[in-house]
Amino acid sequence: MKTPHTSTLALAARFPDTFLWGVATSSFQIEGAAREDGKGESIWDRFCQQPGVIADGSNGDVACDHVHRLEADLDLIASLGVGCYRFSISWPRVQPLGHGAWNEAGFAFYERLVEGLRARGLKAFLTLNHWDLPQALQDRGGWAARETVEHFVRYAREVARRFGSRVDAITTHNEPWVVAVLGNEQGIFAPGIKDRRTMLQVAHHLLVSHGATLRALRQDGCPAKLGIVLNLAHIVPASPLPADEAAADHGDATGRRWYADPLFKGEYPPELVAEYGADMPHIEPGDMDLIATPMDYLGVNYYMRIVARGDGQPWDPAAHGRPVSDMGWEIYPRGLTELLRLLHRDYRDHGLPPIYITENGGAFPDATTDGHVQDDDRIAYLNTHISAVADALDAGVPLGGYMVWSLMDNFEWASGYAKRFGIVHVDYATLTRTPKASAHWLTDLLRHWKETHHA
Ligand code: FCB
Repeated sequence: MKTPHTSTLALAARFPDTFLWGVATSSFQIEGAAREDGKGESIWDRFCQQPGVIADGSNGDVACDHVHRLEADLDLIASLGVGCYRFSISWPRVQPLGHGAWNEAGFAFYERLVEGLRARGLKAFLTLNHWDLPQALQDRGGWAARETVEHFVRYAREVARRFGSRVDAITTHNEPWVVAVLGNEQGIFAPGIKDRRTMLQVAHHLLVSHGATLRALRQDGCPAKLGIVLNLAHIVPASPLPADEAAADHGDATGRRWYADPLFKGEYPPELVAEYGADMPHIEPGDMDLIATPMDYLGVNYYMRIVARGDGQPWDPAAHGRPVSDMGWEIYPRGLTELLRLLHRDYRDHGLPPIYITENGGAFPDATTDGHVQDDDRIAYLNTHISAVADALDAGVPLGGYMVWSLMDNFEWASGYAKRFGIVHVDYATLTRTPKASAHWLTDLLRHWKETHHA
C-alpha cells in the first residue's frame, strides 16, 4: 500500500520555527573501537559472544567505526541540514568498571564530539544510558542491584560536570522497558536474563536512578535540559471483544503506564501492583518521590502499532494485509498522533513537559544501484510520520522536536547488521557512507522549513 505523499513544502510549513530537527544514533551501535584506549567491556560486548543470540553472529567490535571517523561523520550530520544530533555515551568507555577510575582517553573522544557539534552549530542531545552497561557492574548484579543506582548518579555527575554546559539536553535512560523486559525478562537482549522479578527490580532501579540523577544534576547547577526517553507503541484491541480489550489495556499498562505513571504521578498502576504480587520490586522510602522529579522534556521513540489479542497470540500485520517494515513492525503513522494525544490527555495535569520524538524511522531492504539507494519506502515512512507529528501539534500537544532513527545503518542489536535503519547507507566491507534518497528528502524538507521561516 502506498500512502500519498505530502510535498516537503507543504509539510515544512506545518512546523514552527522553534522546532528542533535531528538524527539519532547510540554508542554501541556505531562506535566500534570496542577494546581501544582503555575502554572497558560492556554487557553488549559480552552478550554478542554467546552463540546464537545475534542473528548474523556479529558484534560491535567495528560497527560503523565511528570512533575513527568522527570528523567525517560530523560533517555528514551537518550536511543534512539538521539542527541537532542525538548520541549516547558509552559508560565503559569513560569509566571502564562503572565505578572508580575515569578513562581520560574515552572522555577525550566525547570532548571532540561535543566540540565538533558546537563548531558546526549543531545542538547536542546526550544520552547517558543507551544500554551498554559496564560488564563489571553486571557482574555485581547489574541494574537489579541498588548500588548500580549510586554508580550511575556518580557517572552522570561526572559527564554533566564536563559537558553539561555545552550540550542542550541530557537523557538519563533510553527505553527502560527494553532494558528491563527484553534484557532481563525475555533475555533476547543483553544481559540475557529471563526472570520477571529481576525485570521489575531493574525497571524500578532505572527509574530511581533517573530521578536521583535529575536531583543531583540540578543541585550541581547543570544548565542542560534533563529528561528520559520511553519507547511507546500505539496499542489497540484486535476486536471489541472484552478479552481483546483487556489485552490491549494490559499491554498499555505494562508498556506505557508502568513507566509514565511513576514519572508523572509518583505511583505504579495499581492493577499491575496487584497482579505482580510477590514479584513487586523492593521500593525504598522516598523512591516514588524521586522518580516523579519534574523533567524538562519527555523523549518518545515511536515505531509501530500493536494489535492486542485476548488469547495471547501475536497479531500478524502482514497476514492482515497491513504494511510492515523489514523488522515486521506494522507501519501505522496515525498511531503516533494517537499516542501523543493519549500522553497529553493522561499527563497534562501532572506536569507533562514538552515532548520530543527522539526516535522514529524504518528498516527496509534497501537496494543499492550504482552506489545509489532509492529508498522510497523510507521516504514514505518519514513523510507520513512527520505529518502525524504535525497533526499532534495541531491538536495542541506540546512538541519540541523530531529525530530520525537513524543517521546511518548500524548494529541493530539482536538483528545484527542485517536490518538497515539509516538515511545514510553504510557499506560494511569498506565502511563507506552514502546518503540515501531519504537523506536528500530530509534535507529538502529542512530547506523548505528554513525558507518558510526566514523568507
Ligand atoms: C530502539 C532503540 C534504537 C534502535 C531502534 C530501531 O528501540 O532505541 O537503538 O535499535 O529501536
